[in-house]
Amino acid sequence: MCGIVGYIGKKNATPIIIEGIKRLEYRGYDSSGIAIIDDDNNLKIFKEAGKIIELERSLPSPDESFGNIGIAHTRWATHGEPSKTNAHPHSSCNNTIALVHNGIIENYKNLRSKLEMEDHVFKSETDTEILAHLIEKFLTIENDLTRAVQCALKLVEGTFGVAVISKDHPGKLVAARKGSPLILGIGKNEFFITSDIAAIIIHTKKVIYLEDNEIITITNDDFQLTNLQNESIEANISIVDWDVSSINKGEYKHFMLKEIFEQPTSINNAFRGRLHERLSTVRLGGLNMTGEELRRVKMLQIIACGTSWHAALIGKYLIEGLARIPVEVEYASEYRYRNPIIPEDTIVFVISQSGETADTLAGLREAQAKGARVLGITNTIGSTIARESDGGVYIHAGVEIGVASTKAFTSQVTILTLIAVLLGRMKDLQPTFGKSFIKELYDIPKKVEEILAKNDEIREIAKSIKDSNNALYLGRGANYPVALEGALKLKEISYIHAEGYPAAEMKHGPIALIDENMPVIAIAPDDAIYDKIISNLQEVKARNGRIITIATEGDEKIKQISESVIYIPKTIRTLQPLLTVIPLQLLAYHVADLRGLDVDQPRNLAKSVTVE
Ligand code: G6P
Repeated sequence: MCGIVGYIGKKNATPIIIEGIKRLEYRGYDSSGIAIIDDDNNLKIFKEAGKIIELERSLPSPDESFGNIGIAHTRWATHGEPSKTNAHPHSSCNNTIALVHNGIIENYKNLRSKLEMEDHVFKSETDTEILAHLIEKFLTIENDLTRAVQCALKLVEGTFGVAVISKDHPGKLVAARKGSPLILGIGKNEFFITSDIAAIIIHTKKVIYLEDNEIITITNDDFQLTNLQNESIEANISIVDWDVSSINKGEYKHFMLKEIFEQPTSINNAFRGRLHERLSTVRLGGLNMTGEELRRVKMLQIIACGTSWHAALIGKYLIEGLARIPVEVEYASEYRYRNPIIPEDTIVFVISQSGETADTLAGLREAQAKGARVLGITNTIGSTIARESDGGVYIHAGVEIGVASTKAFTSQVTILTLIAVLLGRMKDLQPTFGKSFIKELYDIPKKVEEILAKNDEIREIAKSIKDSNNALYLGRGANYPVALEGALKLKEISYIHAEGYPAAEMKHGPIALIDENMPVIAIAPDDAIYDKIISNLQEVKARNGRIITIATEGDEKIKQISESVIYIPKTIRTLQPLLTVIPLQLLAYHVADLRGLDVDQPRNLAKSVTVE
C-alpha cells in the first residue's frame, strides 16, 4: 500500500526514481509525485492524480528535472481524496522540505491544530503533511535534518515509512521506519531507499532492512543508522536472492497471467526440500519446534486476510482431517480486537503473502502478547511478519506483482498441506498415506501444467459469462474455500458481483437468485461427496441456472447438467484444491481481460494493505 523510492548518487535521479516507482505501482496507484533537488539547489516537486504515467507526462524536459537526489511516492489514499494536492511529496510552509510517507499518523488532528496555532498553513487534507511542518519547526531549533526528523517522529503516534530531503541540507536524504517497511539499497557510489525491493533490484541486491524506530541518514558516499535518540546502530547488510526477470512481464500480457502460469514452478518451490521420503513425512525446520513440542499441540488458530484467509480455511479442512487437531480460522481484523481466547498448547499461525498486512501483524502481536507461540507463513523474506514471528515457513513463491493473488495462494495451500501431513504423521496417519501423499505431490506441478494447457478453452468459457452481473461459486469440503477464492478473484478484477457458498447451503437463500442469466461455477471433482454436489447442481438445473463445472477427467455424466465442463486431472482429495483453483483463476483473468479492464491494478485495491 503506497510505495516509496529515493535516490542519492551521481546520476540523474529522475529516470531512476520514476522507473522504480513504476515497479511499485501495484502497491497503490491513485496519485503519485516526485521531488528533486537540482544542481542549482532548487527543490522541485511534481505531482499528479491518477497513474504514474500521468506524472511522467507532466514532467518537464530531463534538463529541467535534473538532479542527483530525489524521492517519489505512489499513493493509495487513506486521508483525503486522491488528488494532485493530496499526492506526496508534501512540503512545509517555506517549501524547503519534501517528504513522502507510507502508513498513518493517528494523532495527526491533534498535531495539526497545534501547528496551526503556531501559524503553520496546510495545503492538503493528508495526515502526512504534518510531518513536513513538524520537521520544518524542528529545523529552526536543530538545523540538522536527521535531528529534526528524530524530534518530529518522537511526537507521532501511528506507523510510518518516511523519506525526506531539504534544499537547505543538500546532499542528504533521511529516511525512517516504524511499522511500514523501508529498505536501503547500496549501489556503487549511489544509494536507494525504497519500501519494496522490486523498485531497486535492477540496481543492487545489497540491502539493509530498517527496523522499527531506526533512522538512516544517507549522503553521496556514506550512510549512518541511528535510533530516535540519535544513538548509532550497527547495520546488517543482506543480499537479496531475487531473480531480476521476476519483475518483468516477459511474454505475458499481464503479471497476473504470468503468475498463474508460474504455478507449476512456485508450487514445486514450496515443497522442494521439505519432504522426508524415508520417513514418509515432512520437515519444516523453520517452525523452530521440536517433534515433542509439535506433538503437544492441541489446537491451531490461523489468522489472515483476503486470499490468505481462504488458504487458511483450506488449511482447517486439511489439518483437522489429517491431524485431528481443531483449527480456528479468523479474519485478522476481527481477531485483533475481540480479545481472543488462546487455550494452552495452541499455536497461532499468521498467513500473509506480503508479510506486512496491518491487521495480520496486529493479530500476531496480540497473540504474542497473550503468550502464544506465533508462526508465520509468508512470501516476503525479511518482512515484518517474518521477523516478528517465533518461527515459520517461507512459501518461496517469488515476487507476486498482480494485485489479485494467485501463485502465493497455491504456495500457501501447499505449505498448509505439508503442515497437515507433518502433524498427521505424528498422530494417526500411516506411513503408507505419507508415501502416497509424497508421490502425488510430486505429480502436482505436471497436473497444474495440464490445466494451464486449457487456457484457450477457458477463455472461450469466459466469453460466455463476461457480461454477467452476478456469479455464484459452489464447492464442498476443502473446495468450499476454493469457491470463495474463485468468487473473490472474479469480483476483484472483473467487478462482477460474485459469491462463494458451500454447495448445500445454496438452498438456504442464494437459490432465489438463480435464473437463466446466472452462471453457477461448481467445483465437483470425483470424491466421496461427488453425489451430494451433483444433487445440489440438479437444484440449479431445475431452475434453468447456467452451470459451469470443474470436474475430474473421465466424468462424462457431469456433461448432462453442465453448460461447460473444465476437466482437471485426478489426484488425492488432500491435494485437490491445488488443482481446482487453477481454472477459476484463469476464468477470472479472462473475464476481466475480455471486459478490457486493468487486470493487474484493479480499481480501489492495493497489493499490500498496511493500514487498518
Ligand atoms: C490485499 C490484497 C489481497 C491479499 C490481502 C492479504 O487485500 O489485494 O490480494 O490477499 O491483501 O494480503 P497478504 O499480503 O497479507 O496476504
